[in-house]
Amino acid sequence: DKGNHRHFMEKEIHEQPEVISHTLANYLNFADGTVADFDLPFDFAKIERLAISACGTAYLAGLIGKYWLERYARLPVDIDIASEFRYREMPLPKNSAALFISQSGETADTLASLRYCREEGIPISAIVNVRESTIARESDGIFPTLAGPEIGVASTKAFTCQLSVLAALTLKAAKARGTISPEEEQALVRELSEAPRYASQALKLSASIEKVARELSHVRHVLYLGRDTNYPLALEGALKLKEISYIHAEGYAAGELKHGPIALIDEQMPVIVIAPHDRIFEKTVSNMQEVAARGGRIVLITDEKGAQNATLETLETIVLPDVPEFVAPIIYALPIQMLAYHTAVIMGTDVDQPRNLAKSVTVE
Ligand code: F6R
Repeated sequence: DKGNHRHFMEKEIHEQPEVISHTLANYLNFADGTVADFDLPFDFAKIERLAISACGTAYLAGLIGKYWLERYARLPVDIDIASEFRYREMPLPKNSAALFISQSGETADTLASLRYCREEGIPISAIVNVRESTIARESDGIFPTLAGPEIGVASTKAFTCQLSVLAALTLKAAKARGTISPEEEQALVRELSEAPRYASQALKLSASIEKVARELSHVRHVLYLGRDTNYPLALEGALKLKEISYIHAEGYAAGELKHGPIALIDEQMPVIVIAPHDRIFEKTVSNMQEVAARGGRIVLITDEKGAQNATLETLETIVLPDVPEFVAPIIYALPIQMLAYHTAVIMGTDVDQPRNLAKSVTVE
């Protein structure tokens, strides 16, 4: 049932404040600002590496997880696309563990990667949305996302719930490894507890996003740029746009611009830059200047501070509330989903059932 929404995707985008809240509450104690006492099939204090593997949007959640786990918990993370992982015969030392991420829990390549790890004898965990799935059953421990059924083929609420679980796991790991103090733990839990409220605010940006969507509906190619955790979001923005609007889109780490993709920039090329005002904001601003100097049309997705400090002309600036850096990826996922959604609606494609795609990819 779509309720009063035109598509399941729109409904699922709007459910995010609620499902993020449910998911976080499963892993965090908001009342006292601590990580909850949930079970793990391995000890974060004892492992030396974590191998994450997944497909598509779930893989991009894992990529953000890598940035978080390495930064906050000082835990080295290998991240692989499951279709590569299953065949590349990666060495898995005894003191490592595996984490798979899958909405459906049935994705063939992710399952094959899990079985590879099983043969290698390392502990296996999985973030899944469907608890009765094969991946859930074959794991030693699961971390459910409480997103509810996701019907739209393009993943939205499952992604932000996967990020919510990864954020909680990061705090769990950081605590176990002694890389954050109880005060820092409390501060980060408090920040996460505000995520649903920020997500609701992000949902109110439809008007400026629809304006950009009208522009995108006339173009053939779009570039997405971001640094740090905004780099996986750039990849996710491009994936979402191409799968439902059929516009060719590429995501790049902003620092890679001058190593190739800058050759594509001209007046026809919209460049979507995901850049909250963080530690490396100025670096991204200089990349935007390079784009502007070549006539590229910039859509900046930022916060209030970023909008004030990015002294350059944009086609449109989408301004989110100022949010703490740790929470930002969960919140910035929303405008990129909405942008893809509105573009597809304007273009009249089948948003919930895009051509050639299946919700659950159970064959290689
Ligand atoms: C993109 C999308 C796909 C899935 C991928 C993995 O919007 O939905 O890229 O993320 O097929 O699916 P799961 O998470 O079910 O393993």
